[in-house]
Amino acid sequence: MMREILVLFLILAGSSDAVVKRWIKYSDYNDADNWGGLNRTPCPTDTINLGAMQPVSVYIQSNLTITELALPMTGEIILGPNVILDFPANPANIDPSCQGATPGQLAEFQVQTQEWFNLNNWEVYGSLADAQQGDVSKEVGVLDIEKIPCSSGGDTTGSYIRDEVLFPENHSFRVNMGTQPLSLQRLNFAGKVYTSTNPFSDFLNTVSGKSQLNPGADRPTVNIGGSCTDVTGCACGNDAMKTVICAAVQCQDRGLQCDNPPTPQGHCCGVCGAVLTIGYGDNFNFQNLESYIRTQYLQQDKYQGVRTILSKSAVSRAGQVQLVLQDNAPGTQNGQTAAAMAQEVRDTLPAAGLGITAVDVQASTKGSGPSGQTGGRMAGGTIAGIVIAVIIVLLIIVLVAFFVRRRSTPLELSLPKMPKMPKMPAFNGKKTLTNEFEMGGATFSNPNFDPNSPDHFSLSYSGVEDLGSSKGFNNPMYDNPVEDNPMYSDTSLSGTMDPASVTTTPPTTPDGDTRDGGIENPIYGVDNLQEVVMDAEC
Ligand SMILES: *[C@@H]1O[C@H](CO)[C@@H](O)[C@H](O)[C@H]1NC(C)=O
Ligand SMILES: *[C@@H]1O[C@H](CO)[C@@H](O)[C@H](O)[C@H]1NC(C)=O
Repeated sequence: MMREILVLFLILAGSSDAVVKRWIKYSDYNDADNWGGLNRTPCPTDTINLGAMQPVSVYIQSNLTITELALPMTGEIILGPNVILDFPANPANIDPSCQGATPGQLAEFQVQTQEWFNLNNWEVYGSLADAQQGDVSKEVGVLDIEKIPCSSGGDTTGSYIRDEVLFPENHSFRVNMGTQPLSLQRLNFAGKVYTSTNPFSDFLNTVSGKSQLNPGADRPTVNIGGSCTDVTGCACGNDAMKTVICAAVQCQDRGLQCDNPPTPQGHCCGVCGAVLTIGYGDNFNFQNLESYIRTQYLQQDKYQGVRTILSKSAVSRAGQVQLVLQDNAPGTQNGQTAAAMAQEVRDTLPAAGLGITAVDVQASTKGSGPSGQTGGRMAGGTIAGIVIAVIIVLLIIVLVAFFVRRRSTPLELSLPKMPKMPKMPAFNGKKTLTNEFEMGGATFSNPNFDPNSPDHFSLSYSGVEDLGSSKGFNNPMYDNPVEDNPMYSDTSLSGTMDPASVTTTPPTTPDGDTRDGGIENPIYGVDNLQEVVMDAEC
């Protein structure tokens, strides 16, 4: 234990502290924003088309009742644990938000590709645990260009910060990373940790990687590993992308109420408070300065609420660090406490024995505008909105619980993985099933279809323990086993669709040899589908 603490200490002492940057935009099924103009997630009577975008990765987190589901030509559907896709005979719109839905309404999955260089897509935390939790009250303040993982601007040599990046598990993504090389210290992607370059390069070339990162375009080089080792601190190195990053920022939205706000190096807008340029000489240590500021200034009662951002810029002269001070004072007073602290730092820091040679201060002045709202209080409308939202959510939970209890499960297929089906059969609520599978215009039909077959089936993932040693589900419809895909070596919750491995030969019997490329109707209990558990009641 002592040794671990010592090692940890040495790591921290030797580097400028890298933070964890969390990506917050998902290509999840349950996100209403991902359904184009529909502005809701699909209802049970909708005709759902996941194939509108290609390639695509869709994470399904909750049980679904579905009438018809078209899958993309290339891409993947990831079923969360214990998720059941249910295709009943008569899907009903039980959810209140679905009461007005017209049966057969087309629901097209139209997730937007989100930009790596848009700072609104990131949150910054001090630790991986905080980042995984995603509690925004624990967010760490950084300069605008440093909200994007450092070394994203093509600066991959020299002393630059390399960040740990988190793409949280239980989600799927659709990201344009751009084409310039990116350098990260560690990458946590959907539950898998990458600490070196090659395993992630391999992942980028899988169907899953191609569906989530730069879909339909070339992927950048992503260097993984290494960290800042310069004790005087490292620059973030995103300066080359500043114009691109700041294009997503509207400074007036930040509502500054002070006058003469200085703009820090690496920031898109001015700040209320102070920007200190600190020159250093021999014996300077970035970490020592950081802890000195914390213990000598920030702990004083009069500086309560002051926030600091200590950084080094790649474009400023060598031998300088920048300290930004801001505070939480309301209205036109905002920045005044920070400005006062800046004066004290300027007067006392050079004598602190930290190797500081000069301190230059630029500070905002007290706002002259009319003293506006004091902020911090929620408007009545917001509170009412939250209350209504909570009531709606509770209602949905109650109704879903009611539905799940009522839902009969006459026939259930328990699949370790979502099978790679080009198109789910269209069960139009008729006793006679539409036993057709379509893909890319090809129609697969089964001439020996039995009209007395059950009129209800569902697909589910029933747990890792069912997967056996292969830790993957060999889709019976395809020749290529999914365990070729490194993504699945330890996540095992997903299946892929790859039209390249499908032939358009329709099976001639319900239990035709699907491994020759035919498409299999999951309602047939064929021998070679060993993972399928049939449990018919009707
Ligand atoms: C889906 O439904 C089944 C059975 O009704 C339930 O056991 C399971 O927890 C549900 N899954 C999710 C993700 O809610
Ligand atoms: C992801 O889902 C699994 C299974 O439900 C759960 O154990 C895990 O905590 C989830 N992870 C996160 C980060 O929510």
